Amino acid sequence: MIGRLNHIAIAVPDLEAAAGRYRDLLGGHVGDVHILPEHGVRVVFVDTGNTKVELLQALDDSSPIAAFMARNPGGGMHHICFEVSNIAASMEQLLAGGARVLGDGPKIGAHGRPVVFLHPKDFDGTLIELEEVEPELTPA
Ligand code: CO
Repeated sequence: MIGRLNHIAIAVPDLEAAAGRYRDLLGGHVGDVHILPEHGVRVVFVDTGNTKVELLQALDDSSPIAAFMARNPGGGMHHICFEVSNIAASMEQLLAGGARVLGDGPKIGAHGRPVVFLHPKDFDGTLIELEEVEPELTPA
């Protein structure tokens, strides 16, 4: 079911400061800030070639990552995101297997594609995001 690692997300207390460190200290290819009100976060992606790092900051205290930030005020690893080709089929398979999907199903994520999150208690303490990606174009 899961394909490539799409990104690793790190929750941060100060998005601009974190993005600056990835750009200036690590020499990363840092993108623009995107605001995702439906997810309660602002995000910046760092393209590392084989995958991406998603830096995310809570928009306010009602953010889904607010509790995480309260436990980890200095920031920390928040989730990993795998690519899937059919998110509805993946959800059906996961629910049938006893895994828990957070919320009421797919939302549109940071890349304009459907995403879902899986309960961290079902995956060894790691929050997993699945993102539906376009099928690879077959070379002619
Ligand atoms: Co993500």
